[in-house]
Parts: sequence; C-alpha cells; structure tokens
Amino acid sequence: MCGIVGYIGSKNTKKILINGLKELEYRGYDSAGIAVLSNGNFSSFKSVGKLVNLEKRTKDFETRGFAVGIGHTRWATHGKPTELNAHPHTGVNAYVVHNGIIENYAELKKELLKEGALFLSQTDTEVIVHQFEKNLKDLKNAFKAFEKTISELKGAYAILLVTKEEENTIFFAKNGSPMLIGINKENDKYFASSDTPLIGECREVNYFEDGDYGYVTQNELVIYDKNNTQKEPHFIQLATNKLSAQKEGFRFFMEKEIYEQSSVIADTLLGRLNENEVFFDELEENFFEGINEIKLCACGTSYHSALTASYLFERYAKIKTSVEIASEFRYRSPLMSKDTLFVVISQSGETADTLETLKMAKQSGLKTLVICNVDNSSMVRIADRAILTRAGIEKGVASTKAFATQVTVFWMLALHVAQSKKTLTEDELTQHIHYLRAIPTSVHVEDAMHERIKRLSKRYLHGHGFFFIGRDVFFPLALEGALKLKEISYLHAEGYPSGEMKHGPIALADPELFTIALLPQHMLYEKSKSNVEELSARDSTICAISPLEFDKADDFIQTKEHPHYMLEFFEMMVVVQLLSLEISIRLGNDVDMPRNLAKSVTVE
Ligand code: AGP
Repeated sequence: MCGIVGYIGSKNTKKILINGLKELEYRGYDSAGIAVLSNGNFSSFKSVGKLVNLEKRTKDFETRGFAVGIGHTRWATHGKPTELNAHPHTGVNAYVVHNGIIENYAELKKELLKEGALFLSQTDTEVIVHQFEKNLKDLKNAFKAFEKTISELKGAYAILLVTKEEENTIFFAKNGSPMLIGINKENDKYFASSDTPLIGECREVNYFEDGDYGYVTQNELVIYDKNNTQKEPHFIQLATNKLSAQKEGFRFFMEKEIYEQSSVIADTLLGRLNENEVFFDELEENFFEGINEIKLCACGTSYHSALTASYLFERYAKIKTSVEIASEFRYRSPLMSKDTLFVVISQSGETADTLETLKMAKQSGLKTLVICNVDNSSMVRIADRAILTRAGIEKGVASTKAFATQVTVFWMLALHVAQSKKTLTEDELTQHIHYLRAIPTSVHVEDAMHERIKRLSKRYLHGHGFFFIGRDVFFPLALEGALKLKEISYLHAEGYPSGEMKHGPIALADPELFTIALLPQHMLYEKSKSNVEELSARDSTICAISPLEFDKADDFIQTKEHPHYMLEFFEMMVVVQLLSLEISIRLGNDVDMPRNLAKSVTVE
C-alpha cells in the first residue's frame, strides 16, 4: 500500500523524508520519490524498486536551512511501477503525492487534456496537480485553488501538495485514506500516512478526519473540516514502539489484515462500478469475444477463491468454468482449446506452480489473465492482461484480505461478462452492483462479534478434528476456513460439502468431532440444515454460523441478515478467519509466521 511523508522545517529534509519512507517499507511498494522545495527551487527524485535506489539517486543532494518536502512510496494501482508513474507528480510549478484512488480521474483528465495539460504518467494522481494549476490560474490564490481542487475530487485520498506559489507551505487533504501530522519542540511539522515515521520525531500527533483539509507553514496549522469550517487540531500522545505501531494496536498482522478488509475491498471496487455497469480499465471491450470457456488455476487460498468464482461465472455469466489446482494441472497433459480463457489467481504473483501453468497456457496459444495483488510480479508480466486486487501488502502468512479482494474481483468479473453476454437483465445487474457496494460493510468487524468468537474459541482447542461444511459457494469458503485453521493452529481440519458428509465422513461423528457449519439464509438453507442435523443426531459438536437461530447446535455464532448470499459469504468469511485466529492465539502460536510455511512459495 502506498505511503506518504511530508516535512516542513530546518533539519535535513532529504534525510527526514527518506527515513520516513523507510518506516513505511513494511506496507509494500514498488517505487518511491521525493520533492523538496528550498529557496524557491524544486528538486525531485524518483526511482523504481527499493528505497536504496532512491538513496543512490539523491546521494549528491542536500538541503541547507528551511525547506518543505514531500515523499511517497507507491504500490501500483493505475499504471505500471515505472519512474514516470512514481510520485510526486508535477505540472508546472507544483508537486503532489497521493494515497487512495481518484474515482473520477478519467473525466477530469479528459477535460484537462482538452485544455492543453501535459500528462506524463498513467496515474489517477496526476490529475490532482493539473487540476490545482488550472484552478490557480483562475483564482490566483493557492489555498483557494487547492480547496476547489479537493471539492472536485471523488474517491479516497490522502494528499500533500507543494507549490512555488506559496513556497513555505504544505497543503493537505484527507478523505478515506489515513494521514496524521506531528509537531516537535522546534515547531517543525511532519506528515505521514501512518504512525511509524513520526515515532522518535514527535511526541504528539493530530490524526486527520475524513473531509479535513488545510495547510501548514512554519508557524501555522490551519485545518478545515468537511463542511469547510475551520477547526482546532486535536493532539494526542504518540506510541513509542515501532513494531506495535506497524500493527496499529493489533496483536498480529493477520488480525490487522482481517480488520482492513473493509477498506481494501472499497479500494478494489473503486472506479470499477457505476449505477448499472461493472468495468475494468485493464480489459479491452472485446476481451471476452470468442471465449466459450474459462479455466481457473491457482494454489491454496487463491484456489479457493477460484472455486468460488466458478459458481459465479456459471450462474451469472452462463459460461462453462473449470478450476484446477496448479501443481496437478502441470503434469497431467491437459487438453487446452483456443476458445478458453486461462485465468491464474495469485496473491504474490510468484507461486512457482501457478506461474508454470500460466506459461503452459501461453505456449498453447490461450488468452491469459491474472488476478493478482502484486503489480510487476512474474505473473503480471507474463499474462496477456492483469487485474490487480488492491489489497495492499499482506504480511500474515495466512492469507485473509487477499482472498477477500480476489472474491470481490471475481464477483465483479462474473457480472462484467454477464453484462457483455447479456445473461443478466439491466435490473439484475443494477441490483448486484448495489450488493457489491455493500461488501465493505458486510466485512466490518463488530466488537461484539469478535468478543463472542474470542470467548467461544476456548472450547475448540482439542478434539480429533474439525469439519468446516457448506454448500454452493459456502463449500469453497468451508475449504478456506479449514485451511486457515490448519495453517495457524496446527489442528486437523477439513472443508467438505455439507451434502457429502453422509457419504463417508459422518462415520467420524462423535462429541470430539467439531463441525463448523455454514448456514446462510439465502443459499440452500433447508438442505444445509438437514445435513447439519444428521451430524448433530450423531453427537458431533456443532458450531453453527448463521443469521437464523439453530437449536441443534452446541454453539451458535449469529451473523447479520443480508439481502444476498454473497454478502452472507463475506461476513462468514470474517467469522471463520477470526475463529482460526483466536484458537491459534490461545494455543500460543505465532500466527503471522506459522511453522513450515512461507508467504510466497517459489519452489515446486
Ligand atoms: C494462504 O493462507 C496460504 N498461505 C497459501 O495457501 C497461499 O494461498 C498459496 O501458497 C498461494 O499463494 P499465492 O496466492 O501467492 O499464489
């Protein structure tokens, strides 16, 4: 995920900016840059890859005395990770850094191009600085121009902007992406998109709220709220431990990533929906022309998201879809026909087995697509087209938010195909889009829910095994729940289709067999319920997850009522993630780095 730093003061500006960016490295990035305004002159440096490249670039650059500076680490969303796409972006006399996504950038860019603005990058961010310069020409006042620019942006942002017009000033705005400011004893001011760059530099910080914008100079901090009313800053004490600051108060990165799902899914959706259409800038209009079949191929959690996708593609887009485990597909001399779209799914984009299948498909002349979280990864470079999931870096080895964003992309993609094949009516599409927009709310972690799961978890620390069961898309979710538990608790767990238990596994049923039953209201409820009753009658210990009361269960986790089964899917996903997390914490395991596992499996 992108990171922002800013500084205004008389210390070594370059050093402060680069050190600040280093503190944000843990969030992941693929390019970085800084811009410093000192004695009326801008100096700007950018580089692709790690910060050491930026350090090399800035080796001979020093500032003396007062300066203002902004810096950025970029995790590519719009446009490849190149130097031109790295921030800060410039127009004529100003530089900007930005986290988030400007949803209406395409419209703004169209107008700006007409008026002669010269765009250098493929990013959404660059429109901010051109829009600002256009407004500055009209209004002749930098703050007014900035204020107007902010009012014209739609989407999520944390923005810092510096301009020669007001050379001792940093303009800032925050909406939907985090940003804070700290002030030290010398009255120097520091900006960052998370706590860590400010630890050790300032003792007190002000966290901006959504809608806040304003400016700082050496002696002033002026903040306006979303109603354009000036407000006082609210300074609070800053944490002192960097690692715990990176975890933002959570016990483990995995826990933080579970909580982040709501905001990263909002990013996944951004700019890809309107009232009755789903679109991907990444795919040309006729991308699906001539495609009669989709083959999805992946490993582990990504395989589970692919399985989920197969239900959605066949149900909504009416296109034949099959799913393959990459390590199996590689060696079974598969038949590939040219009218098949070959889709690989990977959080890292580097998983060796999946990468090999992508190469095989390309060699066979198939059209290929990757759904991936890491731009410029091997798979993204090789596949014909790539859709990025925008989950930000995932540090926990057990994948959570990457899975959530993959499923979100797949639901959108199924609708996108349905739209071009006209297999859904306009009303149905509009309804789905309405539900898609509700995903971020459905995955929001409620305190009461988390507390309940924490309490229940103590009853599930032993036993001779877990069965996670579900039907339809809740079967892949059951597989995913079981995989999460296995990975971090080291307890034996299996995912199974509810209706299949009677064909064998039910023989295991006894009080020491724990069944985690997914019972959504809007997908085969009665059928799934009977399957669980069969297990309950054989004395298996049942933990039911459902919005509907279920009296045959030993434990019951009540989810909210949702209007669509996919929204139930997303809430239940959070429940199984939290259950695995809490069981594993109670068992004393290192949740973020489970034994024997690696985040990216680049060996066969
Ligand atoms: C998920 O929790 C696992 N750590 C693992 O199954 C992972 O999903 C698998 O190795 C595939 O990784 P990828 O998505 O990076 O290709």
